[in-house]
Amino acid sequence: MANPSILDQPDAARKVDQHNMLELCEKTPQFCAEAIELTREIDIPCEMPQNVIFAGMGGSAIGGELIHDWLRDRATIPISVCREYTLPAYADEKTLVIPVSYSGETEETLSAFAEAVRRKCKVLTLSSGGRLQSLSKELGITHVCIPEGFPPRAAIAYLLFPLAVFMGRLGVVRERSGEVEEALRVLRQVSEESKRSVNFEDNAAKRLAAEISGTVPVVYGFLHYNAVARRIKCQFNENSKVPSRFEVLPELNHNDIMGWEAPQDLLGNFSLIFIRDLLEPPEIKVRIELTEEITATKTKRVCSIWAKGKQKLARMLSAMHIGDFASIYLAIMSGVDPTPTNSITQLKQEMNRRLDKTRNHERKTQSLKRQHAKG
Ligand code: PA5
Repeated sequence: MANPSILDQPDAARKVDQHNMLELCEKTPQFCAEAIELTREIDIPCEMPQNVIFAGMGGSAIGGELIHDWLRDRATIPISVCREYTLPAYADEKTLVIPVSYSGETEETLSAFAEAVRRKCKVLTLSSGGRLQSLSKELGITHVCIPEGFPPRAAIAYLLFPLAVFMGRLGVVRERSGEVEEALRVLRQVSEESKRSVNFEDNAAKRLAAEISGTVPVVYGFLHYNAVARRIKCQFNENSKVPSRFEVLPELNHNDIMGWEAPQDLLGNFSLIFIRDLLEPPEIKVRIELTEEITATKTKRVCSIWAKGKQKLARMLSAMHIGDFASIYLAIMSGVDPTPTNSITQLKQEMNRRLDKTRNHERKTQSLKRQHAKG
């Protein structure tokens, strides 16, 4: 049974949050500053590419997704995210492929990496170690090494900010003055307002967790809140261990909205979270209001996360950070340790066993090295 009062009892909450996910979340703004610092010393080997593909899965793909949304209306070249074993057909020597894997061991990402090398793409890798790092070293590929010991989703600072800095340095985008600084400032503000020592009544993230407790949260985003909506949905899955979904306006008005015509005994198990922004375009504002009107009597709860800040990056990251906190509070209220992801681990282990990955991987690595040696 969910128990919101535990959120204002630090010792009891800490007993549930055994691996201290909450502390990692509170420190995210500090990690962002460290991630930017870490990137300063890295020399980017290539010139402006014709397009950029971020390759990664789960928590390691979200940094690239956020970059995609952030720069969508400003980047001078296409940016995409590949969550597959294989790269799109257009990836060639003019493409910059950035495989990102927190562990450096994710097989889909390693496969996309190998393909990028085979196709002679420009390649830059990012991980906290693993085979992505060792192979990059062997093949002479620039690798960004980020700190180890985090659950991948809690390392979002290190999985996002180096990519943002590289996009600026490569000339893919010209950073608007002070945009990153504002994002850090606003993230610090959200951490201050959402941290565990702020009581329930004054803490929007704790209140959101209590509102959606016992339901399947559905997150509705729009435009540049696509990746943020996905991130919050994934945080509910991985931290709170509940099913969750996300959809994005305006598209959801053309299909997903019909789902709310289902029988009430089914819909009563869902809650809706709208990502809101004082600067949302008028047509989106009207769509949100109408969607709220149509769904209000059908779901158990309708709630909002309001983005903060002036520029786009700050607004995106502030909404994400509130959602991150809420997912951890929801876990704690339900007596669930936010950190372990047993089903993901189990699935990866079983995939390794069934596909005899090691043998497979050795073969691919040898062939990559042979190809590299031939030039
Ligand atoms: O959050 C998680 O643990 C997962 O979504 C992982 O990020 C995902 O399985 C990919 O692993 P990695 O981030 O190590 O590449």
